[in-house]
Amino acid sequence: MKNIYKNSSYNLNKAKGILKKNKIIAVPTETVYGLAGNAYSDNSVKKIYSLKKRPKKNPLIIHYYDLGLLKRDAVYDKNFLKLYNKFSPGPLTYILKKKPTSKVSKFANAKLKTIAVRFPKNKVIRSLLKKINFPLAIPSANISTGVSPTQPLDVIDEFNNKIKFILNGGKSSIGLESTVINLINKPRILRPGVISDIEIGKLLRKKILKNTVSKKIISPGMLKRHYSPGIPIKLNSKKADYKAAFIVFGKKYKLNKNMFNLSNKGDLKEAAKNLYKILRKIKKLKYKKINIVKIPNKNIGIAINDRLKRASN
Ligand code: TXA
Ligand code: MG
Repeated sequence: MKNIYKNSSYNLNKAKGILKKNKIIAVPTETVYGLAGNAYSDNSVKKIYSLKKRPKKNPLIIHYYDLGLLKRDAVYDKNFLKLYNKFSPGPLTYILKKKPTSKVSKFANAKLKTIAVRFPKNKVIRSLLKKINFPLAIPSANISTGVSPTQPLDVIDEFNNKIKFILNGGKSSIGLESTVINLINKPRILRPGVISDIEIGKLLRKKILKNTVSKKIISPGMLKRHYSPGIPIKLNSKKADYKAAFIVFGKKYKLNKNMFNLSNKGDLKEAAKNLYKILRKIKKLKYKKINIVKIPNKNIGIAINDRLKRASN
């Protein structure tokens, strides 16, 4: 397929070359696919905002291979290190204080004093990060407010021919964006994900605060309307409305044409992995409306419900 490049050392070098020229590529991560650019370059970062039509006030996550380059860019403490040692590389994003001497473009973090950092686990993006001597700004590879991509073809769906190089790292194994935790004052979850407040709380021996969709938005990027397939979604439905796509979860449903099951087994991890794929499929099939059953609000179900609430806003 045109524009999709398989994982090979030749192609990783090619990706490196493009990034060094401050151009943008698409990359895999274990959560979702992203648009990647050199985080030290104002030009790269500006290109990302413009491709995504993203509001300039919504900061990007900076992706690192390990602590090597991070030391120059952010201030961190014991709590961070405890979490880092347990959960990174992996689907956890930390909000830290940005060092005044940091080389990260001020546009990448919307001129804030803070910076979001993550160490992705997908082995293809890790091989690429290892090869370069700058971190990558990587937001999800979708037009702003839309559904995140979880495979190379979804990136083409979003950007057509505007992204000429998509590094193939297979399907994203998690399928939902990383947990975002603010570590600057009392630890607070800004965006729920697979790594839960409970797991984090256990490790830090602290109660972890949480932002909910309804509360005041304290992070500039925690937009209420997000992750949206662009058609109305009705939550907690018992049955489908006339001509609506009906998203269900668990065994008790007999599949018919308008029905899409997030997980026949009733497995929340599987549901998370399928959610964006199914939303994208429904949109392609030109349904005008979506009904979705109530999803259990525990474990990764909390993250699923967070995205659904925003998608239905
Ligand atoms: O799983 C992920 O995190 C994916 C993959 C590609 O790594 N990336 C991702 O990026 O979801 P994006 O740009 O779609 O979402 C980044 C989130 C936004 O909600 C943004 O507001 C928040 O992180 N964020 C970034 N910097 C922040 C900061 N300094 N303070 C508070 N929130 C911040
Ligand atoms: Mg996003």
